Amino acid sequence: MDCVTFKVNGEEFTVGSDVSSTTTLLEYLRTRLELRGTKYMCLEGGCGACIVSVVKCPGLNPEAVNSCLVSVTSCQGWEVTTIEHVGNRLKGYHPLQTTLAESNGSQCGYCSPGWVMSMYSGMVVDLSSSRPGSRRPGPGRPGPVVGG
Ligand code: FES
Repeated sequence: MDCVTFKVNGEEFTVGSDVSSTTTLLEYLRTRLELRGTKYMCLEGGCGACIVSVVKCPGLNPEAVNSCLVSVTSCQGWEVTTIEHVGNRLKGYHPLQTTLAESNGSQCGYCSPGWVMSMYSGMVVDLSSSRPGSRRPGPGRPGPVVGG
């Protein structure tokens, strides 16, 4: 495979020999796409500041992914959503963001984007699916469909 194609916030990108095999999705988002809402700290999958929401294959539920652990060259066909797409100062905040802020759910706020992206990934509900592992509303799991 010469190139790897994936989407970030609905826009398609292709990488090939222009990136190193050690370039992480985190690094690509922050440096190439200038999407710096995705934060980082540990760079080893421990803190969660770098979490983005990923649909790895059409029809699958989104999952929270530590972007610091993923090589951008392994993202073939992925649909990546970052905090910028979920909500922001200009287009308005997602209810997850406002609830977190209004309920004193963050301290310095540095890792809040990772928290939001983790919760956002878990909020997508596929009520029409009977696939094993489909997410359905339940205790501790919000009901409204918010993904797209
Ligand atoms: S930077 Fe800490 S989990 Fe990715």
